[in-house]
Amino acid sequence: MQKFGGAIACALTATASGAAPVVPSAEQAPPAVFSPATLARADALLGKMSAEEKLGQLNQLFKFGKAPKLDVMVREGKLGSLLFVTDPAEINRLQRLAVEGSRWGIPLLFGSDVVHGYRTIFPVPIALAASWDTAMVEHVSAIGAMEARAGGISWTFAPMVDVARDPRWGRIVEGAGEDVHLNAEMAAAQVRGIQGPRLGTPGRLLASVKHFAGYGAGEGGRDHDAANISDAQLYNTYLPPFRAALQAGAGSVMSAYMDLNDVPATGNRWLLSDVLRGQWGFQGFVVSDNNAVLDLESHGFARDKRDAAERAFHAGVNMEMASYVNAYAHLPEALKDGAITAAEVDAAVRPILATKIQLGLFEQPYVDEALARDVAARAPAHRVEARLAAERSAVLLRNEGKLLPLSPTAYRRVALLGPLGDARQDTLGPWVFAHDLADTVTLAQGLRAKLGADVRLDVAPGVQIKRTTPSPFESIFKERSPAKWDAARAADELERALALARDADVVVLALGEKQDMIGESASRSTFALPGEQQQLMERVVALGKPVVLLLMNGRPLDLGWANAHVPAILELWYPGAQGGAAAANLLFGDASPGGKLPFSWPRNVGQVPLYYSHNLTQDPSEQGRRYWNEPSTPLFPFGFGLSYSTFTVTDIRLDKTEMSAGGSLEASAVIENTGTRPADEVVQLYVHQRHGGASRPVRELKGFERVTLRPSEKKTVRFSIGPKELGYWSAATRGWVNEASTFDVWIGTDSKAALKASFTQTR
Ligand code: BGC
Repeated sequence: MQKFGGAIACALTATASGAAPVVPSAEQAPPAVFSPATLARADALLGKMSAEEKLGQLNQLFKFGKAPKLDVMVREGKLGSLLFVTDPAEINRLQRLAVEGSRWGIPLLFGSDVVHGYRTIFPVPIALAASWDTAMVEHVSAIGAMEARAGGISWTFAPMVDVARDPRWGRIVEGAGEDVHLNAEMAAAQVRGIQGPRLGTPGRLLASVKHFAGYGAGEGGRDHDAANISDAQLYNTYLPPFRAALQAGAGSVMSAYMDLNDVPATGNRWLLSDVLRGQWGFQGFVVSDNNAVLDLESHGFARDKRDAAERAFHAGVNMEMASYVNAYAHLPEALKDGAITAAEVDAAVRPILATKIQLGLFEQPYVDEALARDVAARAPAHRVEARLAAERSAVLLRNEGKLLPLSPTAYRRVALLGPLGDARQDTLGPWVFAHDLADTVTLAQGLRAKLGADVRLDVAPGVQIKRTTPSPFESIFKERSPAKWDAARAADELERALALARDADVVVLALGEKQDMIGESASRSTFALPGEQQQLMERVVALGKPVVLLLMNGRPLDLGWANAHVPAILELWYPGAQGGAAAANLLFGDASPGGKLPFSWPRNVGQVPLYYSHNLTQDPSEQGRRYWNEPSTPLFPFGFGLSYSTFTVTDIRLDKTEMSAGGSLEASAVIENTGTRPADEVVQLYVHQRHGGASRPVRELKGFERVTLRPSEKKTVRFSIGPKELGYWSAATRGWVNEASTFDVWIGTDSKAALKASFTQTR
């Protein structure tokens, strides 16, 4: 293995158009993850350890149930980390075996997927991204980290920063959607929250940025399928969020499952060593995704398990994550045979030991069980944060005739209909393990609490929705889904719901996808509302009552009909444990929606991939008419979201209209709340390069700010535009360039913003 902690070496060249090269600068190298003292201590430890003990640090296994073999492995120093142990007492027992029972007392790293909260469940990551509120995202990530650390976890497999431009892929719910800049900003915010200002901040965790790299680009949106990505797309689209996470100090990286341009990511030396360590100077360690090293054999890449271990090891995977058996068990033989060297082993183990040292695990290896209880007792404060996060993540997609917010006094009977109206597990979304399900406030509970005793609330699912093939994660859901309704029950339930709708003054529909219909192993070939939900919606709307559609989902759904017939549509995503309370506040105007879509919402699945930052290419005037059957534009653009108030953006200004490459300028505009309610709006900056060494996207998000304004209040929002915003990786020169050209700048409230200015960059 080579180049661990190597210096940054970006190959940056001048362009054919003669622009100045982007000079690699110190700020491009990520901050040092380890202090010199930490590295010296790790080296001293390495000097004492046997080869077997060193290789033991490279193993991470799952722990489900009683696994006595693990105890022996821990005592013999053959395990570096365990996954999925969440009981503090069991963590202490195992840690005692490592610290007091093994020769060098090296503590275990306990890992878990703390993806959107630990005990307190926040909205799913795509929802957090829709808040466009990095401070809030940092804050809730910090709460999740603190709760997990108090429970004995020291490492989370988050953030997921895979750019996702094909929403058939279920894991779009775990990231920030289609955009590079939004993904990068959310990645950095999450790392800051998870790790604190530096790795080893008390009460925080080690972050693992995943899945390196290109996992979001699997063919056909099919989970785990191959990704074929050009170098230009890799450097300009898929890699920058990883880079941003490392700049924020992320101490570990998880390698992805799929083939990247034919070479499996987990055996891809170019990716894991040349780019990650060589070009970027990453100092921390790489963990494989679960069983991804073993999978190198099933990819038809490695000959057998031992070959898989050697290939992953040489590619740059320090630690292997595996469920029960692992390929790295073959590394001792490989070392004996000379297939891997002692120096390579030291280089692989050093950052793992350094991480344990830096995290303070040698000093404080055990869980303070009283603290764990105390954190649970503080959960009420965390619940408030969870509600605010859900309110800030919601996106108002339609509000004809200002139906929303609903008047709290106008209705005597409210019907809440749909399969997601009273569904605890679904309200939370995927990737939750350590919570108490009873803490979940469903939509029904939230509305009931809001409406009080004088208003009657009727709740009915109307229809049942189920996956066609079961989810592989079903065994770990705390709320098992009921058996499939037979035809008679299905007919009865539908009629019961329609009868309630008939008697109601207002109907709230809660539709979307169950949480097991999204996430890992949850790709889909259609965006139709699953089951009979469309029919339920159409029959309810036909009754002529005011109807509000609440959506729970993590990917776009077919909303063409709803957008023409349902007056109000509010996207809640999977809003987390306080989702119902947040939804009630939003419905009745105690909170105003201010979230924005983190992806372009297609009209139907046939448009996919559909993203706003496409290239101009041939005949741009036909861009919206590339299909003869319907427009090739999205139903709702990226960055879109309505409010209960109204806003104008005016007075776009650039402080210069000409600058030389390497310089920077300030773009500003004035936003005003022209409505009657205090509310939030997200001001967005987009930039386009008119000509140069490559065809560039029609526009790209380069800055945003979420502002809160009172009625008539104005604010000047300012953005800086410089080499970071204007440089790109050119397929013509095969390097980073920052070219002489004319640039257009838009400032507005979604990716269709029309307010525009331009400037010229000279050499
Ligand atoms: C997922 C990872 C996750 C790991 C451990 C894998 O199947 O791809 O994202 O961190 O499991 O739960």
